[in-house]
Amino acid sequence: MTSHLIVDSFLTGLLPDWLRQPFLWRPQHDMVDLFGKVYIVTGGNSGVGFQVVKWLAAGNATVILATHNMPGARKAVRDLQRDMPHVTETRVHPMFVDMTSFTSITKFVTDFSALSLPLHGLVNAAGEAMGPAGRGADGKMPSHTLVTNYYGPFYLTHLLLQHLTTSAPARIVNFCSALGEFMGKVDWNDLRGEKLVDSDPLAAYNASKRMLSMMTKEMAVRCKGTGVDVFAVHPGFAATNLWHKSLRCYPAARAFNVAEEWFAQHPFYGALPALYALSEPHLQDE
Ligand SMILES: NC(=O)c1ccc[n+]([C@@H]2O[C@H](COP(=O)([O-])OP(=O)(O)OC[C@H]3O[C@@H](n4cnc5c(N)ncnc54)[C@H](OP(=O)(O)O)[C@@H]3O)[C@@H](O)[C@H]2O)c1
Repeated sequence: MTSHLIVDSFLTGLLPDWLRQPFLWRPQHDMVDLFGKVYIVTGGNSGVGFQVVKWLAAGNATVILATHNMPGARKAVRDLQRDMPHVTETRVHPMFVDMTSFTSITKFVTDFSALSLPLHGLVNAAGEAMGPAGRGADGKMPSHTLVTNYYGPFYLTHLLLQHLTTSAPARIVNFCSALGEFMGKVDWNDLRGEKLVDSDPLAAYNASKRMLSMMTKEMAVRCKGTGVDVFAVHPGFAATNLWHKSLRCYPAARAFNVAEEWFAQHPFYGALPALYALSEPHLQDE
């Protein structure tokens, strides 16, 4: 992985800024210094979320790594420390949140508020594809996938909006998906997702991502003039645990795992749109 990045850094570093920045924006060359900025990244212990955390930390930001997997988050911090020995658990601070539980999300926001930190960005990267089946952890929502990918981020974002507005300029970045955009169907008679429990699990994923992108568009309009900008990003097809953790009993999950071996890109590239949306100064009030 490191050699991959060294080659990328070297080759893109050869290009002049005027050519690289519009076409090959790279955090190692082009990201502004983020010292003093504070970000929350859900699902930051793996995949593209981990890459977002890594490059925010490299840019001198403070990051709250919001996770339902505390051992995984501590391992992620140790992995970061191999490349960046200055990164402590104060700079990248793991905090527990289970996106399937409204109780857990409320507690997370209470705990974050107790830290008395500003908040300049929220990245909703936590997500799951096909499975597990069943309800969310507090049993309130019928579809595990719908609450993880949509209702959890929706609730968290709304609870944190006041923090973001107070610290403005600030940004919200939601990880959506081209699958959701093109194939996601929202059943307006079943917004809780009762029918999704028995449907094709890919349909639940697509619907959840479609709902997230609709929320993003609506929030971008409603937040105009508050100093909070809201973005939807797509990481491309990235080689992450998303596909490995999808239940193999679903043919679509097996197909994605095979396709991933051949076609998926490194999660670093999947994180670039989010890092760009979070940090690029000219996107302010766009
Ligand atoms: N990879 C792609 O090709 C692709 C394409 C389009 C969109 N996306 C989106 O990109 C985002 C990042 O996914 P990824 O590809 O990087 O996959 P990933 O490596 O599996 O990352 C997902 C993260 O979400 C966490 N998570 C899952 N359920 C959670 C819960 N209930 N509470 C808190 N955290 C939870 C996971 O933690 P654990 O691993 O510890 O469970 C993991 O850290 C997702 O929203 C995904 O839908 C990915």
